[in-house]
Amino acid sequence: MATEMSLTSNYFFLIFTVTIIYVAYTFPKKLRPKQTNLTFYVHDQFSGEDTTAATVAGKAGPTSSILHFGTVAVVDDPVTVGPSIDSEVIGRAQGIYINSQLDGKALYMAFSVIFTDGEFKGSTLEIQGSDIFEKKEREFSVVSGTGYFRFVKGYGIMETVFMDLPKLRATLKLNVTLKHY
Ligand SMILES: *[C@@H]1O[C@H](CO)[C@@H](O)[C@H](O)[C@H]1NC(C)=O
Ligand SMILES: *[C@@H]1O[C@H](CO)[C@@H](O)[C@H](O)[C@H]1NC(C)=O
Repeated sequence: MATEMSLTSNYFFLIFTVTIIYVAYTFPKKLRPKQTNLTFYVHDQFSGEDTTAATVAGKAGPTSSILHFGTVAVVDDPVTVGPSIDSEVIGRAQGIYINSQLDGKALYMAFSVIFTDGEFKGSTLEIQGSDIFEKKEREFSVVSGTGYFRFVKGYGIMETVFMDLPKLRATLKLNVTLKHY
């Protein structure tokens, strides 16, 4: 009787252990996210022949400066692989900036990076967050994506690598770390 009991409990123990091992080694592996690290450059150009950004509203109407609180700008900026505007173009950054800090020193950004060429052609990333542009490095969030980047979550570090303040032309380096399936 006692032997029979211990055989039964041993049997259940074995089943239990095998199940745990199966769950631990098989199930989470399928859900383990991939990581993609990506660096690209966005060119914000509020003036010039090749203007890609425009203020559309603000305290002084569409002529408001993006450096003043309350100004809304729409961008369709080229995205390149290198810091030079002449380097390979891999997409566009399309969306809005809203100057949302009372002293004018930070923007709220909400834009899509639409990859039109390269490894991620046809996929997009949704970027949303604060840009305290006087800081050397600012962290922002990547909230979602499409195509290769479905179910993405991530963050990025933004740096201004070129700035012509009077002309409001800037080149930004975006270095994103992404987790997706
Ligand atoms: C991405 O960078 C992180 C560190 O930030 C590193 O741990 C990871 O291995 C990198 N992944 C790839 C695919 O390069
Ligand atoms: C990108 O950011 C990660 C930290 O998230 C850092 O480890 C890495 O060196 C950066 N890469 C570049 C090219 O700046």
